[in-house]
Amino acid sequence: MRLRVDLLPHGDYPDTVLVVDVLRATTTAGVYLERGARSLLLTASPERALELRSSGENREGPSESSANVLLGGERGGLPIPGFDFGNSPVEADSQNFTGKVIVMNTTNGTGAAHVAAATGKRVLLASLRNAHAAARRARALAVEEIAIVCAGSNGRASLEDIYTAGVLCEYLMSMGEAGIDDGARIALTVRRNASDPLEALSSSAHGVVLSRLGLGEDVRFSARPSESTLVPVLAETQDTEGALR
Ligand code: MLT
Repeated sequence: MRLRVDLLPHGDYPDTVLVVDVLRATTTAGVYLERGARSLLLTASPERALELRSSGENREGPSESSANVLLGGERGGLPIPGFDFGNSPVEADSQNFTGKVIVMNTTNGTGAAHVAAATGKRVLLASLRNAHAAARRARALAVEEIAIVCAGSNGRASLEDIYTAGVLCEYLMSMGEAGIDDGARIALTVRRNASDPLEALSSSAHGVVLSRLGLGEDVRFSARPSESTLVPVLAETQDTEGALR
Protein backbone atom coordinates (compact mmCIF):
# COMPACT_ATOMS: atom_id res chain seq x y z
CA MET A 1 0.00 0.00 0.00
CA ARG A 2 1.22 3.47 -0.94
CA LEU A 3 0.37 6.42 1.30
CA ARG A 4 0.52 9.95 -0.07
CA VAL A 5 -0.25 13.36 1.42
CA ASP A 6 -0.99 16.34 -0.83
CA LEU A 7 -0.42 19.53 1.15
CA LEU A 8 -2.89 21.18 -1.25
CA PRO A 9 -5.49 19.66 -3.63
CA HIS A 10 -3.91 19.26 -7.02
CA GLY A 11 -4.63 16.40 -9.17
CA ASP A 12 -5.03 12.78 -10.06
CA TYR A 13 -6.48 10.34 -7.49
CA PRO A 14 -6.90 6.88 -8.99
CA ASP A 15 -7.83 5.10 -5.79
CA THR A 16 -9.03 6.06 -2.29
CA VAL A 17 -8.92 9.64 -1.05
CA LEU A 18 -9.28 11.13 2.42
CA VAL A 19 -10.20 14.83 2.19
CA VAL A 20 -9.21 16.92 5.21
CA ASP A 21 -10.50 20.38 6.11
CA VAL A 22 -10.50 20.03 9.86
CA LEU A 23 -11.35 23.72 10.51
CA ARG A 24 -14.10 23.19 9.84
CA ALA A 25 -15.82 21.67 6.75
CA THR A 26 -14.98 17.97 7.20
CA THR A 27 -15.58 18.20 10.95
CA THR A 28 -18.98 19.85 10.43
CA ALA A 29 -19.96 17.46 7.62
CA GLY A 30 -19.57 14.51 9.99
CA VAL A 31 -21.67 16.23 12.65
CA TYR A 32 -24.52 16.89 10.20
CA LEU A 33 -24.72 13.16 9.47
CA GLU A 34 -24.34 12.22 13.16
CA ARG A 35 -27.29 14.50 13.89
CA GLY A 36 -29.51 12.63 11.42
CA ALA A 37 -29.04 14.32 8.04
CA ARG A 38 -30.24 12.04 5.22
CA SER A 39 -27.40 13.17 2.96
CA LEU A 40 -24.98 15.97 2.25
CA LEU A 41 -24.47 17.69 -1.08
CA LEU A 42 -21.23 19.61 -1.59
CA THR A 43 -21.73 22.26 -4.24
CA ALA A 44 -19.18 24.13 -6.31
CA SER A 45 -20.71 27.53 -5.49
CA PRO A 46 -23.12 29.25 -3.06
CA GLU A 47 -25.39 30.05 -6.01
CA ARG A 48 -25.76 26.36 -6.84
CA ALA A 49 -26.63 25.64 -3.21
CA LEU A 50 -29.38 28.30 -3.24
CA GLU A 51 -30.64 26.88 -6.54
CA LEU A 52 -30.79 23.35 -5.12
CA ARG A 53 -32.91 24.51 -2.21
CA SER A 54 -35.37 26.43 -4.36
CA SER A 55 -35.56 23.84 -7.14
CA GLY A 56 -36.38 20.91 -4.85
CA GLU A 57 -34.10 18.65 -6.93
CA ASN A 58 -33.17 16.71 -3.82
CA ARG A 59 -36.47 16.26 -2.13
CA GLU A 60 -37.89 12.79 -1.70
CA GLY A 61 -40.83 13.74 -3.91
CA PRO A 62 -42.80 16.72 -5.21
CA SER A 63 -44.73 16.85 -1.97
CA GLU A 64 -41.60 17.17 0.20
CA SER A 65 -41.19 20.66 1.54
CA SER A 66 -38.20 22.72 0.53
CA ALA A 67 -37.76 23.10 4.29
CA ASN A 68 -36.16 19.65 4.19
CA VAL A 69 -33.23 21.07 2.25
CA LEU A 70 -30.96 23.21 4.45
CA LEU A 71 -27.89 25.19 3.40
CA GLY A 72 -24.69 25.40 5.44
CA GLY A 73 -21.52 27.25 4.58
CA GLU A 74 -19.21 30.15 5.08
CA ARG A 75 -16.95 32.71 3.53
CA GLY A 76 -14.20 34.12 5.74
CA GLY A 77 -15.53 31.90 8.52
CA LEU A 78 -18.92 33.67 8.60
CA PRO A 79 -22.29 32.38 7.33
CA ILE A 80 -23.12 32.97 3.66
CA PRO A 81 -26.10 35.36 3.29
CA GLY A 82 -29.27 33.38 2.58
CA PHE A 83 -27.91 30.16 4.09
CA ASP A 84 -29.61 28.45 7.04
CA PHE A 85 -26.34 27.79 8.89
CA GLY A 86 -22.72 28.83 8.86
CA ASN A 87 -20.05 26.14 9.13
CA SER A 88 -19.91 25.66 12.89
CA PRO A 89 -19.67 22.06 14.10
CA VAL A 90 -20.71 23.23 17.58
CA GLU A 91 -23.87 24.81 16.17
CA ALA A 92 -24.56 21.71 14.05
CA ASP A 93 -24.11 19.51 17.13
CA SER A 94 -26.98 21.34 18.86
CA GLN A 95 -29.50 20.65 16.06
CA ASN A 96 -31.64 17.70 14.97
CA PHE A 97 -31.27 17.19 11.22
CA THR A 98 -33.30 13.99 10.95
CA GLY A 99 -34.51 13.55 7.38
CA LYS A 100 -32.87 16.73 6.13
CA VAL A 101 -30.64 17.14 3.09
CA ILE A 102 -27.78 19.51 3.92
CA VAL A 103 -26.20 21.40 1.05
CA MET A 104 -22.71 22.67 1.90
CA ASN A 105 -20.46 25.23 0.30
CA THR A 106 -17.32 26.50 2.04
CA THR A 107 -14.21 28.47 1.18
CA ASN A 108 -11.87 25.50 0.77
CA GLY A 109 -13.28 22.19 1.99
CA THR A 110 -16.04 21.59 -0.54
CA GLY A 111 -13.72 22.60 -3.35
CA ALA A 112 -11.11 20.09 -2.19
CA ALA A 113 -13.78 17.37 -2.17
CA HIS A 114 -14.68 18.25 -5.76
CA VAL A 115 -11.02 18.03 -6.84
CA ALA A 116 -10.78 14.60 -5.22
CA ALA A 117 -14.07 13.41 -6.68
CA ALA A 118 -13.03 14.37 -10.22
CA THR A 119 -10.68 11.36 -10.38
CA GLY A 120 -10.86 9.55 -7.03
CA LYS A 121 -12.60 6.19 -6.99
CA ARG A 122 -13.61 6.46 -3.34
CA VAL A 123 -13.70 9.81 -1.53
CA LEU A 124 -14.09 10.02 2.25
CA LEU A 125 -14.19 13.08 4.52
CA ALA A 126 -11.75 12.94 7.43
CA SER A 127 -11.22 15.09 10.50
CA LEU A 128 -9.59 14.60 13.90
CA ARG A 129 -12.98 13.60 15.31
CA ASN A 130 -13.31 10.62 12.96
CA ALA A 131 -9.60 10.04 12.23
CA HIS A 132 -9.33 6.44 13.43
CA ALA A 133 -12.59 5.38 11.76
CA ALA A 134 -11.66 7.19 8.54
CA ALA A 135 -8.24 5.52 8.44
CA ARG A 136 -9.80 2.11 9.06
CA ARG A 137 -12.42 2.66 6.31
CA ALA A 138 -9.82 3.92 3.83
CA ARG A 139 -7.56 0.96 4.55
CA ALA A 140 -10.47 -1.42 3.92
CA LEU A 141 -11.48 0.26 0.64
CA ALA A 142 -8.13 1.09 -0.94
CA VAL A 143 -6.58 -1.11 -3.63
CA GLU A 144 -3.06 0.24 -4.01
CA GLU A 145 -2.93 3.82 -2.74
CA ILE A 146 -4.47 6.11 -0.16
CA ALA A 147 -4.15 9.81 -0.83
CA ILE A 148 -4.77 12.32 1.94
CA VAL A 149 -5.75 15.68 0.47
CA CYS A 150 -5.30 18.75 2.67
CA ALA A 151 -7.79 21.46 1.70
CA GLY A 152 -5.50 24.29 2.72
CA SER A 153 -6.74 27.86 2.93
CA ASN A 154 -7.12 30.08 -0.13
CA GLY A 155 -4.41 28.20 -1.97
CA ARG A 156 -1.97 28.16 0.95
CA ALA A 157 -0.98 25.18 3.08
CA SER A 158 -2.84 24.86 6.43
CA LEU A 159 -0.98 23.69 9.52
CA GLU A 160 -4.15 22.15 10.97
CA ASP A 161 -4.87 20.05 7.89
CA ILE A 162 -1.27 18.85 7.66
CA TYR A 163 -1.30 17.96 11.37
CA THR A 164 -4.53 15.99 10.85
CA ALA A 165 -2.96 14.25 7.85
CA GLY A 166 -0.09 13.24 10.14
CA VAL A 167 -2.54 11.73 12.63
CA LEU A 168 -4.21 9.81 9.79
CA CYS A 169 -0.80 8.61 8.55
CA GLU A 170 0.08 7.25 12.00
CA TYR A 171 -3.20 5.32 12.17
CA LEU A 172 -2.83 4.02 8.60
CA MET A 173 0.75 2.89 9.18
CA SER A 174 -0.30 1.09 12.37
CA MET A 175 -2.85 -0.90 10.30
CA GLY A 176 -0.37 -2.46 7.87
CA GLU A 177 2.73 -1.82 5.82
CA ALA A 178 2.72 1.42 3.81
CA GLY A 179 5.23 3.15 1.58
CA ILE A 180 5.07 6.90 2.22
CA ASP A 181 5.87 9.93 0.08
CA ASP A 182 7.56 13.20 1.13
CA GLY A 183 4.15 14.78 1.84
CA ALA A 184 3.41 12.03 4.34
CA ARG A 185 6.83 12.46 5.92
CA ILE A 186 6.17 16.20 6.31
CA ALA A 187 2.75 15.52 7.86
CA LEU A 188 4.23 13.01 10.31
CA THR A 189 6.93 15.51 11.30
CA VAL A 190 4.31 18.21 11.95
CA ARG A 191 2.24 15.74 13.96
CA ARG A 192 5.20 14.66 16.07
CA ASN A 193 6.39 18.21 16.72
CA ALA A 194 3.03 19.40 18.05
CA SER A 195 2.35 18.88 21.76
CA ASP A 196 -1.35 18.07 21.26
CA PRO A 197 -4.23 18.50 18.76
CA LEU A 198 -5.55 21.68 20.38
CA GLU A 199 -2.15 23.37 20.27
CA ALA A 200 -1.79 22.47 16.57
CA LEU A 201 -5.26 23.74 15.65
CA SER A 202 -5.41 26.83 17.84
CA SER A 203 -1.94 28.02 16.76
CA SER A 204 -2.78 27.69 13.05
CA ALA A 205 -3.55 30.82 11.02
CA HIS A 206 -7.17 29.81 10.52
CA GLY A 207 -7.51 28.72 14.13
CA VAL A 208 -6.46 32.23 15.19
CA VAL A 209 -8.94 33.78 12.72
CA LEU A 210 -11.78 31.64 14.07
CA SER A 211 -10.91 32.51 17.66
CA ARG A 212 -10.85 36.22 16.80
CA LEU A 213 -14.33 35.79 15.26
CA GLY A 214 -15.54 34.35 18.60
CA LEU A 215 -15.56 30.80 17.17
CA GLY A 216 -12.87 29.38 19.47
CA GLU A 217 -15.30 26.71 20.69
CA ASP A 218 -15.32 25.34 17.13
CA VAL A 219 -11.52 25.00 17.28
CA ARG A 220 -11.72 23.14 20.60
CA PHE A 221 -14.53 20.90 19.31
CA SER A 222 -12.59 20.11 16.11
CA ALA A 223 -9.48 19.18 18.11
CA ARG A 224 -11.14 16.31 20.00
CA PRO A 225 -9.60 13.14 18.49
CA SER A 226 -11.57 10.09 17.37
CA GLU A 227 -14.84 10.81 19.15
CA SER A 228 -16.82 9.75 16.09
CA THR A 229 -16.99 6.56 14.06
CA LEU A 230 -19.03 8.14 11.26
CA VAL A 231 -17.16 8.57 7.98
CA PRO A 232 -18.90 10.57 5.23
CA VAL A 233 -18.38 8.78 1.89
CA LEU A 234 -18.95 10.51 -1.44
CA ALA A 235 -21.56 8.61 -3.43
CA GLU A 236 -21.08 7.91 -7.13
CA THR A 237 -23.17 10.66 -8.67
CA GLN A 238 -23.70 11.98 -12.17
CA ASP A 239 -24.13 15.56 -11.09
CA THR A 240 -21.37 17.89 -10.02
CA GLU A 241 -22.56 17.82 -6.44
CA GLY A 242 -21.10 14.94 -4.54
CA ALA A 243 -23.81 13.40 -2.36
CA LEU A 244 -22.30 12.27 0.94
CA ARG A 245 -24.06 9.75 3.14
C1 MLT B 1 -12.93 25.92 4.73
O1 MLT B 1 -13.64 25.52 3.81
O2 MLT B 1 -11.77 26.29 4.61
C2 MLT B 1 -13.46 25.99 6.11
O3 MLT B 1 -14.64 25.33 6.15
C3 MLT B 1 -13.50 27.41 6.58
C4 MLT B 1 -14.32 27.60 7.84
O4 MLT B 1 -15.21 26.82 8.14
O5 MLT B 1 -14.05 28.59 8.56
